[in-house]
Amino acid sequence: MWAFCSLLALAAIPATLAVKAHDFKTCSQAGFCRRGRALSARATENPAWRSPYSIDASSLALSPDQASFTAAVKSSIYPEVNFGLDIRIHDDGVVRVRMDEVGGLRKRYDEAASWALLEEPKVSHSIQWTVAKDKVHAKYGAKNNFEVVVAYEPLKVTLSRNGQEQVVLNGRGLLHMEHYRTKESVAQSKQGIAVPEEGFDTDDSQVVLEQAHPRAAWFEGETEDGWWEETFNSFTDPKPRGPESLSLDIDFPNHGHVYGIPQHATRLSLPTTTGEGAYYSDPYRLYNADVFEYLADSTMSLYGSIPFMQAHSADSTVGIFNVIGSETWIDVGRPTLKATTTHWISETGILDVFILPGPTPADVFAQYTRLTGTPALPAHWALGYHQCRWNYISSEDVRSVQQRFDEEDIPVDVFWLDIEYAEDHKYFMWDHKLFPDPVDMIKDVEAIERKMVVIVDPHLKRTNDYPVYKEATELDVLVKVKDGKTDYEGWCWSGSSAWVDFFNPKSWDWWKGLFKINGPSYGWHWTESTENTHIWNDMNEPSIFNGPEISMPRENIHYGGWEHRDLHNINGMLFHNLTSQAVMERSNPPKRPFVLTRSFYAGSQRFGAMWTGDNLGTWEHMGVGVKMVLANNIAGFSFAGSDVGGFFGNPEPEMLVRWYGVGAFAPFFRAHAHIDTKRREPYLLDEPYKSIVRDILRLRYSMLPVWYTAFREASVTGLPVLRPHYVAMPHDEGGFAIDDQYFIGSSGLLVKPVTHKSVTEETVYLPEDQVYYDYFSHQAYRGAAKGKNVTVPAELHQIPLLIRGGSIVPTRERPRRSSPLMKRDPFTLRVALDKDGNARGELYLDDGETYSHREGNFIWREFAAQKLTKKSKGVRISSRNLAAQKPAEAVDHVALAKYDDGNDFAKSIAGVRVEKLVVLGLPAKPTSVSAGDKELQWTYTPGISASEKKEGTASVLVIKDPKLSISGDWDIVVQV
Ligand SMILES: *[C@@H]1O[C@H](CO)[C@@H](O)[C@H](O)[C@H]1NC(C)=O
Ligand SMILES: *[C@@H]1O[C@H](CO)[C@@H](O)[C@H](O)[C@H]1NC(C)=O
Repeated sequence: MWAFCSLLALAAIPATLAVKAHDFKTCSQAGFCRRGRALSARATENPAWRSPYSIDASSLALSPDQASFTAAVKSSIYPEVNFGLDIRIHDDGVVRVRMDEVGGLRKRYDEAASWALLEEPKVSHSIQWTVAKDKVHAKYGAKNNFEVVVAYEPLKVTLSRNGQEQVVLNGRGLLHMEHYRTKESVAQSKQGIAVPEEGFDTDDSQVVLEQAHPRAAWFEGETEDGWWEETFNSFTDPKPRGPESLSLDIDFPNHGHVYGIPQHATRLSLPTTTGEGAYYSDPYRLYNADVFEYLADSTMSLYGSIPFMQAHSADSTVGIFNVIGSETWIDVGRPTLKATTTHWISETGILDVFILPGPTPADVFAQYTRLTGTPALPAHWALGYHQCRWNYISSEDVRSVQQRFDEEDIPVDVFWLDIEYAEDHKYFMWDHKLFPDPVDMIKDVEAIERKMVVIVDPHLKRTNDYPVYKEATELDVLVKVKDGKTDYEGWCWSGSSAWVDFFNPKSWDWWKGLFKINGPSYGWHWTESTENTHIWNDMNEPSIFNGPEISMPRENIHYGGWEHRDLHNINGMLFHNLTSQAVMERSNPPKRPFVLTRSFYAGSQRFGAMWTGDNLGTWEHMGVGVKMVLANNIAGFSFAGSDVGGFFGNPEPEMLVRWYGVGAFAPFFRAHAHIDTKRREPYLLDEPYKSIVRDILRLRYSMLPVWYTAFREASVTGLPVLRPHYVAMPHDEGGFAIDDQYFIGSSGLLVKPVTHKSVTEETVYLPEDQVYYDYFSHQAYRGAAKGKNVTVPAELHQIPLLIRGGSIVPTRERPRRSSPLMKRDPFTLRVALDKDGNARGELYLDDGETYSHREGNFIWREFAAQKLTKKSKGVRISSRNLAAQKPAEAVDHVALAKYDDGNDFAKSIAGVRVEKLVVLGLPAKPTSVSAGDKELQWTYTPGISASEKKEGTASVLVIKDPKLSISGDWDIVVQV
C-alpha cells in the first residue's frame, strides 16, 4: 500500500487521476540509460559500426577438461583497460557468459548470481571447446545440433541450433562495460592534450574529450553525460564511483515473440519500444519501486524484477537470464515479424548472462528453474481464499467478519491484518487497545483450521522502546548512508525509520529468532503469535516516502561495502527469504511457511507468493492483472495473483463479481482494499451478486485438487501453474500473442476470465482440431488445426471454462467453510474424452502442510480412459499408482525414491472414495458399466460424441458412487 493515498477521497477513480509519473524516471532522466540509448543510436546511424571489444587470442585458456575457457578482452578505445571473459557450458546445455573488468580501480558488483542461484551450476565435462584461428566453438546436444561460437574480433557470442541462429550477443556491437575512472584522471587526460592557454574555447567539451581519447567519442559519445552526479526531482545522486554502466545487445534473429522480464503492466508478448512504429517510447524498466496508482499499459518499472526473457517461434524457445541486481532498461525491437532485437542497459555490475537453449518451453522452464529453483510447494490451505483489508481494525472486527462468512456459508481460509494491528506501526507489537487478546483472537480464527496472516514490513521505527529496532542497532545490522558508518534514516509508515541490511549475515539468525514463539532467540521474540500466524512482507522494494523515486538513496551502503544501487532489485528478495525461513523454523518439525511479498527478484519463487501490488478498481487493471500474473508464471514465479476488487476504488457489484472470477483462476486468490474504500466482503453484496460470488468461491474450492496437483508439478519440473498458449501449444502460431485465456497446469482446463463490462458471451480460441467441453453445460466445441474461435456464454454468473478433450479432472464438490475441512471429502472425476475416445489425468495429494512428502508420504495417481479395443466404442477407466511407477521423466527423484505404497499419508486417506464419475463424449448409451464383477449405478444423457465434428451438448454418462478408493488401483469397464 502507499502513503499519501489515504489523503485522497477515492470514492471513484477519475480517469485523469493516474500514476504520479513525474516521481519516476524515464530513460531520458537516467544518465546511464540515456548513454545506452545514445550508443545504440550512433550504431544504427553508422553503417560501418563495429564493436571495439575483441578477444586477445593469445590469452585464451581452456580448462584442463576443455569444458570452459577464459580469455582477455580489450576495447580498442581504451587499450589500457583490461577485461576478463569466462564462458562455460552446463550439463543441460545452458551457456554462461561472464565478463568483468580486471585490475580496475575497484571491483564491480559480482554477487547477484550468488543470491539468485539455487547453487553453483555444474559445468559439463562432456562438452568440449575447439579453438580455431578467429573463434572458439563447441557443439553439443543429443544430435550435436547445438553450437556456440565465440568470435574474437569483434567479440560476439552466437548460439545456433540446426545451423540456425537462436541467440546472438553483441551482434550489433552495443556491448560496453564502462570501466572505472576518476574525475581527476579524466580531467588530467583532457589537460594532457595541449590545450592552448588562451584563445581556446573550452566550452566545447566534446572537442576536448575527442582529443583526449581520439577514438572514444564515436563510441562513448561526446560528453560526460551524467557521469559524476545526477539530480532527479530534488534528489542528487553523488555517484562517488562515476560511470560504470553495462550495455549489451541480445538478439533473437529467428524469434518473433519475446516474453518475461516482469514486472510490467503490459501484454504477455512484449510490444516493441524501439524501431519504426514502436508501441512504447521508453524501454522496459527494471527498478523495484512503489508506484502509486500505476498505469495499466506501460513499460514503467513496478515492485519486482526478474531479468529473465524467453524468445519463441513455432519450432524454438530460448531464454536469457541476465543476472544483474542494479537498475536495468530493456529495449525491444522487431526488425521483421520473425526477428526480435533487445538491448539491455544496466547501471552497475559485471556481465553475467545465461543463455538457455530450450528448444521447447518445457526445456526452458527446466533450465531456468535448475538455476534459480522451482516454486516452493505451498501449504494446501494457501490455495484457498484469502480475505484482506486495510484494515480489520480490532479483535472484535476480525471475529465478526469471520462470523459473517460462516453465517453466509462462504468459504475462506485466511484472514489478514494490515499495518494498523501494530502499535505505531512497530511490526510484531500489537496495538493492545484494539487487539487486547491477539492470541485468543488468532485461536478463534484457527477453530476450523483457518489461518491468520499478519503484516511485517522492513522499516523499523527508530525508537528504543521498540526491541526490534534496539536489537538491530546493537547488532549493527542496519543499512548505512554513504559514509558506510552512520545508520540510514528515512520516512515510512512508522515515521522516522531504519532498514535492516539483510545482506549482512549477522542479521539472519537474529531475524529468524524474532518469530520464535517460545524462544530461544537473540533477545526479544514474538510470544503473542501462534504457529498458524503467517506473514505478509510489503514495502520491501524498499518503499521510502522521502527517498528518491520513493525508495532508498543509491549511494547507501550495504554489507561488504556495496552501494544500494548494485543490489537494489535483489534487496526485497532477501527479506522475503529470511522471513520465510523464520516462519518455517518456528515449528518443530517445520511446516511450510506462507509469506507474501510485493518486491521480488529471480529466485523469489522459492520463498512464497507475490501479488501485483496496489492495483486500481478498474476494468483495465483487472485485465492487465491477468497478463501480469501470466508473466510471473512464465518467469518461474507461479504463486501470483492480483488484489480482487482492486486496491483503490469502490468497484460496482458487476465488477466485483467478475474480479472474483479472475481471482478464482489465479494461483494466489486474495481480496484486498484500501482503507478509504467501502467495505466489500462478499457477504455484503446484494443478490444475485452474493450467491454468484459464493458459487465462484465454491468452484475454486472444488478445484483445489487441480491447483495442488499443478503446484506440485511446478515444484518438481519448473513448468508454470498457469500456462499461456505458447507454452501449452508451442507450435500453434495463432496462440503466441494470446494472454487473456490460459491453461491450468496439465489439467486440460482452459479458462478465459471475463474482464470487461456488460459481457454476455466471450470468444475463446481453440488451438487445435480437438473437442473442448464447457465445464458447466457440457456443450462440445470443436477446434480446427490452425486454430478456431468459438463463442462461449459468459453472463455474469458464467465463467468461460472449457475442458480439453483427453483430460480427466479430479474435484471435490462438497461445499465447506475452509479447505482443511475437505481433507476426507470424496472426489468427482470428470472424464472428457478426446476425439479418439481416450483421456488421462493426474492427482497429487499429501498432508498439505509439513515436509513429510519429502519422506515419501503422498499419493500420486494417474487416471486413464482408453478404448476397450481399437474398434470398440466402450472404454476402460482406470486408476493407477503413478508414484510406484516412478516415471523416468519425473524430476522429484528424492521423494519418489522414498515413496512406499503403505506410507502414512496414503494410509490416512485410505477410506476416501470417488463418489462420482462424469464421462463426456461417449458415442452411445452403455450396455453395462461395471467395476470388477459389480454392475454400477449410472445414468446416461445422449448427446454429441467426442469424435463428431459437430457442436452441441455432449453425451453425459454419470456413474454414481462406485465405492472405489481415490488412492487404490481400480478399473471401470463401460461397454457400449
Ligand atoms: C535464501 O534461501 C536459500 C534457500 O533457497 C538459502 O540457501 C540461502 O542461504 C538463503 N539466504 C539468503 C540470505 O539469501
Ligand atoms: C479469433 O479472434 C481474434 C479476435 O477476436 C482474431 O484476431 C483472430 O484472428 C481469430 N482467430 C481465428 C482463428 O479466427
